[in-house]
Amino acid sequence: MVNYGLFCTVFQTTKNHKPIKMKVIHTIKDLQAELSVLKAQGKKVGLVPTMGALHAGHASLVKRSVNENEVTVVSVFVNPTQFNDKNDLVKYPRTLDADCKLLEACGATYAFAPSVEEMYPEPDTRQFSYAPLDTVMEGAFRPGHFNGVCQIVSKLFEAVKPHRAYFGEKDFQQLAIIREMVRQMQFDLEIVGCPIVREEDGLALSSRNARLSAEERENALKISQTLFKSRTFAASHSVKETIDEVISTIDAIPEMRVEYYEIVDGNTLQPIAGWNDSDYIVGCITVYNGEVRLIDNIAYRRPEQ
Ligand code: PAF
Repeated sequence: MVNYGLFCTVFQTTKNHKPIKMKVIHTIKDLQAELSVLKAQGKKVGLVPTMGALHAGHASLVKRSVNENEVTVVSVFVNPTQFNDKNDLVKYPRTLDADCKLLEACGATYAFAPSVEEMYPEPDTRQFSYAPLDTVMEGAFRPGHFNGVCQIVSKLFEAVKPHRAYFGEKDFQQLAIIREMVRQMQFDLEIVGCPIVREEDGLALSSRNARLSAEERENALKISQTLFKSRTFAASHSVKETIDEVISTIDAIPEMRVEYYEIVDGNTLQPIAGWNDSDYIVGCITVYNGEVRLIDNIAYRRPEQ
């Protein structure tokens, strides 16, 4: 069920919101024609890339962009090249009408919903390699996934040429890789990382949550609960003991299987051995909950701002 209440709150409190109708655009040419006029007027453009099936986590990114830019483009595109599991691609929820209602309520200026042919008129053979950032965790378990993410995100950056682009910290590794891609490819834009949005009970919002049965939804809660508890556990245990504790707690539920839990340096994404190894420490987890693959993460330590 979509929480319209939250979106309406976003709508009413957004600084740059003007009650204009959001436009839905399907081609790069049409989008660029619109944006060139607005950019010529000196307007700043924020881009929020999504794969649709939008929830309050996406709304927080859109809200942030609407507050920081005069124009907000939200792309809604289920990118085939980032799915290493084709079954997952088929099952991915596609809810464009509902997405557009939510985006309009959030004050987005444009929903950009291209076809696969529009984004990939020919196969994209580009290879992106940001080792060791993209060889660990998701990179190890989902070969080719980040290559597909970089293909589509770089195409979106080239098409929209935004001043800022917004990504959630829930996909922690994706955010680090996109930052590195921007650095290496010298894209002239700011990447804005936004905090994870959680349900009241702690479950990290995800488009995949819609696929959970009531029992799986109950079990899924164990992920965030275990991560939060592990912060206290970590105060008197080693990194290795903390990893083992998290994995064994979640694996004790018969329907759940931890694919990995790694405690890493938040910048390099490399595993740390001791709590003093870094001033930015993040635990990243992936769990199979029945057939649904869920990810989450938690910061044990953040650098002082
Ligand atoms: O995080 C996502 O939803 C996707 O990986 C992204 C960034 C929209 C690229 O398809």
